[in-house]
Amino acid sequence: MKLCMIGTGYVGLVSGTCFADLGNNVICVDKDPNKITQLMNGKIPIYEPGLEELVNKNFKNKRLNFSIDLKKSIKDSDIIFICVGTPTKKGGSSADLSQIYGVAKEISTSINKFKIIITKSTVPVTTGDEIEKILSKKNKKNKFSVVSNPEFLREGEAVRDFNFPDRIVIGSNDKKSNRILKSLYSPLISKGAQYLNTSRRAAELIKYASNAFLATKITFINEIANLCEKTGINTEDISIGMGLDKRIGGRFLRAGPAYGGSCFPKDTKAIISTADKFKTNLSVIKSVIKSNENRSSLLLNRVYEILNKKVKNKKITFLGVTFKANTDDMRDSSSLTMIPKLSKKGALIKYFDPTGFKKELSKIKNVSYVNSVKKSIEGADLVIIHTEWNDFKSINFKNLVRGKKFIIYDMRNIYSPTKIRGQGFKYYSVGR
Ligand code: UGA
Repeated sequence: MKLCMIGTGYVGLVSGTCFADLGNNVICVDKDPNKITQLMNGKIPIYEPGLEELVNKNFKNKRLNFSIDLKKSIKDSDIIFICVGTPTKKGGSSADLSQIYGVAKEISTSINKFKIIITKSTVPVTTGDEIEKILSKKNKKNKFSVVSNPEFLREGEAVRDFNFPDRIVIGSNDKKSNRILKSLYSPLISKGAQYLNTSRRAAELIKYASNAFLATKITFINEIANLCEKTGINTEDISIGMGLDKRIGGRFLRAGPAYGGSCFPKDTKAIISTADKFKTNLSVIKSVIKSNENRSSLLLNRVYEILNKKVKNKKITFLGVTFKANTDDMRDSSSLTMIPKLSKKGALIKYFDPTGFKKELSKIKNVSYVNSVKKSIEGADLVIIHTEWNDFKSINFKNLVRGKKFIIYDMRNIYSPTKIRGQGFKYYSVGR
């Protein structure tokens, strides 16, 4: 099948490449010519394990191509995936759909034969209806079908998540489109993915409800972890004990810093905004957002306590600054809240991240990047393990820095408290 992916961010580039790998002809389009040139030269603009090899393989065998020519790419394709960003509106909380509608207008002038137009980006309920209105202005109804097919890829695991999804959701009542899309996804369905056909609006909401629910699960365990700290309980026992109940499930019950990234913070706000529009109060999700926003202050208070309220001139190391491991993404990472506050209090901060220097931290006073774990922890008073990179999972702190014993605050519960304390370090973690 001939597919066109509009937007070469996480969603478009990963899905397009993986569709090509499944044997389809895919053209990935972006309005940024530099990005397209980079991609044609085998350079991947995002950090995503396994993606570069797959892009190069499929570009060489000509199943995957790149272009800045949107109209031609649409004309040449049967299925168009809209994969552009839907960030939070500046100064608001709803999703900014200007890119989506801009693309819909471009599509409306390029329909030369029947096309399936799919929103893969996360879009609020009724966006599909709006796209249909835009397309109808210039085209007959039998020339196109607008479908919602949300993605459920996690950054850092995106290639795996594409190839082994739990479910494929297709939101459309159009029989022809449903048949074509079932066949497009058949290699994944035959590997065990559940195929769910719903109304378009339902598919749009499934995506938001899923992200909001996962954010709720994380926030729930984070609050339980606060109680565990006060009562001398290991929160991991609680996660396991709860997770063994099949109705609950053990995943996304790891306590840690505030959740971040490009999706949960943005999507929880956007679903509230949609609900407001339809005069519905999503009070649970509102509390989740508030609790998550308070979480960095809560963890920082712990830092102040650990340092006996003497932060000025304390040497603090951050191991990992991205919002999670296996990504270079800093969007809404809790480090962006914690580091400036510590700097303001006079701390001297060094950080090491496997994905290197971060421009987001470059303008903050007394914050410097170093290029190894060893250099980052030399002379430190406090080492904060902020992100759960594998690189940080078996550090021999004792051997790495002889002599000086620093304090370790493990925000991801990577280490065994008894083992680390046995080596003579003061060790703190989350909810245990
Ligand atoms: C999330 C969803 O998991 C994907 O299904 C969805 O497709 C994607 O958003 C999206 O909408 O595009 P992602 O933001 O890449 O994926 O990352 P997650 O692995 O979900 O992690 C999000 C945040 O939750 C991170 O800050 C992570 O550290 C935190 N988290 C996750 C926890 O604190 N505890 C957990 O147990 C799990």
